[in-house]
Amino acid sequence: MRMKKDTLLPLARQHGTPLFVYFCEEINRQTDQLLALDMPYGYTPRYAMKANPHPEIVKHIVSRGVGVDASSSYEAEQAIQFGVPPDQIALTSQQSAHNLKELVEQGVTYHATSLHQLELYGRVFPNTTVGVRINPGVGSGHSQKTNVGGPTSSFGIWHEYIDDIKTVAKRYNFTINKVHTHVGSGTDLAIWKEAIDLSLVAARQFEDCAIINLGGGFKVARMPDEVSTPIDQVASVISQRIKQFKQETGTELHVELEPGGFLVAGAGVLLAEIDDIVDTGEGGYTFIKLNTGMNDILRPSLYAAQHRIEVLTDRNNTKEYAVVGHNCESGDLLTPAIGDPETIATRELTEAQIGDIVAVGDVGAYCASMAAHGYNGFPSAKEVVVRGSR
Ligand SMILES: Cc1ncc(COP(=O)(O)O)c(C=O)c1O
Repeated sequence: MRMKKDTLLPLARQHGTPLFVYFCEEINRQTDQLLALDMPYGYTPRYAMKANPHPEIVKHIVSRGVGVDASSSYEAEQAIQFGVPPDQIALTSQQSAHNLKELVEQGVTYHATSLHQLELYGRVFPNTTVGVRINPGVGSGHSQKTNVGGPTSSFGIWHEYIDDIKTVAKRYNFTINKVHTHVGSGTDLAIWKEAIDLSLVAARQFEDCAIINLGGGFKVARMPDEVSTPIDQVASVISQRIKQFKQETGTELHVELEPGGFLVAGAGVLLAEIDDIVDTGEGGYTFIKLNTGMNDILRPSLYAAQHRIEVLTDRNNTKEYAVVGHNCESGDLLTPAIGDPETIATRELTEAQIGDIVAVGDVGAYCASMAAHGYNGFPSAKEVVVRGSR
């Protein structure tokens, strides 16, 4: 589907470029799908705000009935500043929270992601209840860099250390009421099934476990040949396995999910101006240089992530271009080869001129929030949230 030139060009003129535009209707569509999932014994959806912590987006999603998953205590604080009620925020962090006590006392839910974190929690909150993030032994991602499960991942307590968790829990007299897993971003249905089963194996080992949090990670298709993970199919597998769990153990598990990219990836378009066009002669490349790059969008350089790119003009003829950013770095590439961020690829695009506006699609997640901000001194792209669809 082509991006809407008539909607995008006036926004570029009005706000200037580079500009991230986020379309609320796209977020609403995804949020509605998430909220409509049916779980047999209760369900809490949260938004992994790391994907896009723009205050309007966080507030908008929360206003529709979705909580917040924070990846650091700073994010949890931000969410509270945006007005998110603390009891709708869950904190699952790689960092030992500097202000854990304050956050939990305000009502933030905590998931300990290492034995050390569990120990720290126990020192502050003995005789209470806590969730633990487990590394279930399987991982998956759209790139190895977004795979956060299995032996190559430091995320969560390794599944063979459940006895150690119990030892810490006994020492501080707390109850483990929740098992949390998140195996990666860009996970497809087959891996989801495996991760669900392994998560339930872990849950079974805690007699007081009443909640299973299965993280996020639904694969989002950004290019026409990519396939999104069907969230409703994942949900029906979860539901079926949870019912089986109840038959086998008598426990009715409440389900939590916390997608990020699923809710916002498709909502964003990055508008940039062509700053220069250069080439490297016969047999070389023609490069479109944008007035943006890895300081606003790092995913292509980091993961070889593919994003749709369109030159917003009425011209009809096309040409092969490599699209690059304006940072002084050959890795600042918007058209890497699939699966290889080191290698340049080209795209057939509408013939371009310096000054044309280019739209980069599906940049609502992990772009503005995860870029090399400030590199080369470039200011970050502006961000606007608009009604309607892209
Ligand atoms: C614990 C946890 N939950 C949820 C998410 C959201 O992942 P995604 O945006 O792929 O849905 C992440 C992302 O890495 C995460 O670490």
